[in-house]
Amino acid sequence: MSAIQSLSTKPLKVAVLVSGSGSNLQVLIDAMTSGSLPIEIVGVISNVKEAYAVTRAEQAGIATAVFSHITEGENAGKRMGIKTFERHASAQLTEWQPDLIVLAGFMRVLSADFISAAPAPMINLHPSLLPKYKGLDTHARVLESDDIHHGCSVHVVTAELDAGQVLAQALLAIKPEETAEALQARVQKLEHQILPWTILLIAQGVLDLENLPSHENANCLPALPYQLWLDS
Ligand code: GRF
Repeated sequence: MSAIQSLSTKPLKVAVLVSGSGSNLQVLIDAMTSGSLPIEIVGVISNVKEAYAVTRAEQAGIATAVFSHITEGENAGKRMGIKTFERHASAQLTEWQPDLIVLAGFMRVLSADFISAAPAPMINLHPSLLPKYKGLDTHARVLESDDIHHGCSVHVVTAELDAGQVLAQALLAIKPEETAEALQARVQKLEHQILPWTILLIAQGVLDLENLPSHENANCLPALPYQLWLDS
């Protein structure tokens, strides 16, 4: 049995951090359930109590942990500091022992200490062709530019926001007169393909996050990022 075959028989344990609707989480749940992606989602952490992503995880029987950034009780309405969130999230991740942590629509900025102490490598899904348009409002910003292409990226999380090694990108052509909302919807369809595809490469050992291919050791692999034209 080859190394890749033996790796793929043991599912990759994945923890997912979310803040919103969780459509990307749903894609991962569906791919796990259908057997098309060799992963086991060991748990989902949300910083938003009402996030529909939490409902999606619960419906799939996946463990959830909510560390809301808005407190209740006598301190109602006070914002939970990022350090407090990170202390809770860190303890939870240590319990779940994931092989990979996926930020899928997670909207808080994590500290360098949390990232370096995390029990597994961490990747993020970002709605732009990094290094262009780090941060928020990427669709509106690209429409104000002369760019003719847009898309999304999966990258390694580092202390600097949206600046870690880009692993994979999906591209589309911007349409004339396209609104930010329409563009966002089209990019999200790309996200739903590029995220599971990248995780598949990691699960199969093609992409080793601790030993990423470079020009020196790439063998037959092309240099990162892998770019897929997924426009339709
Ligand atoms: C995605 O568009 C992602 O690019 C951004 O947040 C959104 C999450 O969507 N960071 P969902 O919660 O997976 O539906």
